[in-house]
Amino acid sequence: MSEWVKTGWRSKPRVQMPEYTDQAALQAVEAQLAKYPPLVFAGEARRLKEKLGKAARGEAFLLQGGDCAESFSEFSADLIRDTFKVMLQMAMVLTYGAKVPVVKVGRMAGQFAKPRSSPTEVIDGKELPSYRGDIINGFEFDPEARVPDPRRMLQAYTQAAATLNLLRAFSTGGYADVHQVHAWTLGFTESDEAERYRDMARRITDTLDFMRAAGVDSERAYTLRTVEFYTSHEALLLEYEEALCRVDSTTGLPVAGSGHMLWIGDRTRQPDGAHVEFLRGVQNPIGLKCGPSLTTDDLKRLLEKLNPENEPGRLTLITRFGAGNVGEHLPRLIRAVREEGANVVWSCDPMHGNTIKSSSGFKTRPFDSVLREVREFFAVHNAEGTIPGGVHFEMTGKDVTECTGGMRAVTDEDLSSRYHTACDPRLNASQALELAFLVAEELSNRRRDSQEAAVV
Ligand code: PEP
Ligand code: CO
Repeated sequence: MSEWVKTGWRSKPRVQMPEYTDQAALQAVEAQLAKYPPLVFAGEARRLKEKLGKAARGEAFLLQGGDCAESFSEFSADLIRDTFKVMLQMAMVLTYGAKVPVVKVGRMAGQFAKPRSSPTEVIDGKELPSYRGDIINGFEFDPEARVPDPRRMLQAYTQAAATLNLLRAFSTGGYADVHQVHAWTLGFTESDEAERYRDMARRITDTLDFMRAAGVDSERAYTLRTVEFYTSHEALLLEYEEALCRVDSTTGLPVAGSGHMLWIGDRTRQPDGAHVEFLRGVQNPIGLKCGPSLTTDDLKRLLEKLNPENEPGRLTLITRFGAGNVGEHLPRLIRAVREEGANVVWSCDPMHGNTIKSSSGFKTRPFDSVLREVREFFAVHNAEGTIPGGVHFEMTGKDVTECTGGMRAVTDEDLSSRYHTACDPRLNASQALELAFLVAEELSNRRRDSQEAAVV
């Protein structure tokens, strides 16, 4: 393979990227970003890679989630806190319910650029370029707003830096202390999941009380008081990624400074394309979205390109086929990975293959299909003897009505009441918890089955 340079992607075919008309402005922004400090550090990315190596072996589980798209207008401390809180709650359900360490990765602090299924959007007979995320152009249906503006990259960088600052404070400053497990329920809207969660929180507090009575000082145990939380986003806008790419002073190797983990979308994974070219050269853990159109030949080429050293934790395959399609596609991809002897984390994105237009006209995802895809993912891995290593989902801490169904059923008619997403429909907090309880159950069943098999 040819030697990698951070500008190498520029001579490859690119898709889903904006054509900037003002080249001088673009270059000025790139030069400025190249001088700014990286948002994440190489040692952190390496540590995440080690943890994902554990997930590949079934010794940990990856929980990756957050907004479909972060936006400039919805930027607030409360929103960040609420998403972080739901992630902590879900992680607690998995740790307590399935007794598995959870690797927590937010779709946060950089999830600004969006691939689109159509380059233009038509409303009332008027056609404009599609919205591609706040880092590229504006959401308003207005010709001026839709022109890609490179200066938006600077605002995205600033927002990502502030978001990360808050996440780091929440992770180590007391908020994530397990003794706060009850406080995380404050502001919960009532639902069966909330009650199930409170019940679990009571049992955790009980255990902590027991530990204290028995002389184990859990108050001082650092691992119980802090949490490791990582950031991730789709590496779509390569000008931004290149400008934030740095050399790791410890290893001398290039590392993306924009987030801990970056992924390649289902629409930009061409083995000879620009996105694969850029990501093959950075040391971060990376994800690859795998949809129904991914051929086994392409997957094999991608495994070779993206992880030539077969390093554990380097590559996470995020499958997103849609409920009812997992049995058709996952086994053939598992076979390809097996034939190559490749180390991968298998993660399930039950969102992007299940998007439909509801009868009321909103883009939605039936929550039943989301849960069904997760069940199918586990069933195929159980049948194949491979390891389900994680889930990837779109969620918000806000009480939105974007996905239909769930214990507190959201109906087609409800969608309009609190539909806020700038892009794809997200799970609300209650639906996210329901998903976590399902995953915990699937993981415990696996553990029980393998223990029983060991006894027999
Ligand atoms: C996404 O994760 O928001 C996304 C666009 O996913 P995919 O590339 O799998 O369609
Ligand atoms: Co999305």
